[in-house]
Amino acid sequence: MGPLPLHLLPSTGTVAPDGRLTIGGCDVLQLAERYGTPLFVYDEEHLRARCREAVAAWGDGVAYASKAFLCKAMAALVHDSGMCIDVSTGGELAVCLAAGVPPERLVLHGNNKSLAELTEAVEAGVGRIVVDSFDEIDRLSALAVAGMSARVMVRVTPGVEAHTHEYVMTGQEDTKFGFSIASGAAARAVDQLRRLPEMEVVGIHAHIGSQIFVLASFRKAIEALADFFTPLGLPELCLGGGLGVPYVTGEAAPTIIEWAAAAREACAAAGIPSDTRLTAEPGRAIAAAAAVTLYRVGTVKDLPGIRSYVAVDGGMSDNPRPVLYGSGYEAFLPRSTTADRPRQVRVVGKHCESGDLIVPDACVPADLVVGDILCTPVTGAYGHSMASNYNKVPRPAVLFVAGGHARVVVRRETYDDLLRLDA
Ligand code: LLP
Repeated sequence: MGPLPLHLLPSTGTVAPDGRLTIGGCDVLQLAERYGTPLFVYDEEHLRARCREAVAAWGDGVAYASKAFLCKAMAALVHDSGMCIDVSTGGELAVCLAAGVPPERLVLHGNNKSLAELTEAVEAGVGRIVVDSFDEIDRLSALAVAGMSARVMVRVTPGVEAHTHEYVMTGQEDTKFGFSIASGAAARAVDQLRRLPEMEVVGIHAHIGSQIFVLASFRKAIEALADFFTPLGLPELCLGGGLGVPYVTGEAAPTIIEWAAAAREACAAAGIPSDTRLTAEPGRAIAAAAAVTLYRVGTVKDLPGIRSYVAVDGGMSDNPRPVLYGSGYEAFLPRSTTADRPRQVRVVGKHCESGDLIVPDACVPADLVVGDILCTPVTGAYGHSMASNYNKVPRPAVLFVAGGHARVVVRRETYDDLLRLDA
C-alpha cells in the first residue's frame, strides 16, 4: 500500500525532486521513449559492485552463474570485474567465448552435456568441467582416449532440502542433478575419474537450490559434505549458487559477504581443511536487483466488484517467473517513484492466456492511466534469460546504463528476427 521500498531499486537509482526515477544517471522515462518498451535497464555500477563483492567474499575462482542473465556485454563486464563464469550449455559457452572471456575462466555445468558440448569445452580449454553422471564419465573417457585432457570437479547431492520452491531445489536425494553421497555413487564417480590420468579431479561441487534466504541451509549442506570431501584430500570445494534476493516489500536477504562468512565458519566447524579453495556460483545475487523492466500500460479494465486489470505491452514472454513459480514483484510508476500506491490492481501481459500475470496483486498509484510507463524492479535475473517468443512477441531490448549514458547490449527483436529461422 505504501510507496515502493527504494532499496529494491538498482544501487544508482535516484529519485529526482519531481519524483522521476533515474538509473545510472539516465532518466528512465526518457529511456522508454527513446528505446521503446518493454525494456530491461541494467545498472552497470550495481553489477560491477556485486561482482567485486563476490570476489572479495569468496576469493579468486568465484563464478557468475550466467544462466541468470547473459549476453556478450554481461560476460565481458563479469570477467573485467574479476569473476569466473559458470556456463551450463554449449550455447552459454559460445556466448562467453564470443565475448572474449579466456576459456580457463569458464566452468562447464549441465546434467546432460552432449559429447559435442564436452568436446567444444575441452578443445576450448575451459577451466573446469563439473561432472554430473556416469554417462558423462563415459563421454569424458572417450575424449581421454582421443588424447584430450581437462580439469574436472564432481557434482554431488548432499541430501539436504533447502528452504525454497520445489522447482529450484536441487540438494535433495530425489534429483536429476549430480551423484548421491549417501548411495556411494559420488565416491564411485571420483574413483572412476581418478583412473583417467587425462582428467585431473580438482574438487567437489554441490548446489542445493536457488532463492535461499536461510544461511542455515548452506550450513547443513556443508556439514553433510564434510565427511565425504575431507578424506578425498582435494583442493577445491564449490558450494554452487542459491543466495536469495528480496523482490518485494518486507523481504530481506543476507549479503554475499555474510553468505561467504557463514560458509567459511561452517567449513571450519566441520573440519574442512583451512587451505581448501572454497568457491561459489552466485547468479541471482549478482544480477537480479541490477535491473528493472519498463512496460507501457495499454489497457485498464475495471470489473466492478471484481478487480481492475492493468495490461502492459510485455508479459510471461519477458518474465515467466510469476507463472512458473508464483514469484512476487512490486510495480510502480517511475514518473512518481515515491508516490503512495493505494490502488489494488492485477498487472497482466498481452499474451493469450489468463495465466499471463506479472503482478497478481499489485499496489499502484491512484492516478495510473493508459500510456503510463510502469516499472517492475528486481528483474535482472531469470527474466531476459528465460524470455520466449510466445505469441510471436519480439523479445525486449536490454540497456546497460552508467554515468549518464545508455548503451544497447541486446537489441530489440524485430518481426524479421521472428521469421529468421523459417524455411
Ligand atoms: N550453480 C548451479 C549449478 C546452478 O544450477 C545454479 C542455478 C546456480 C549456480 C545459480 O543459482 P542462483 O545463485 O542464481 O540462485 N529459473 C529459476 C532459478 C533456477 C536456478 C537454476 N540453477 C528462477 O527464476 O528462480
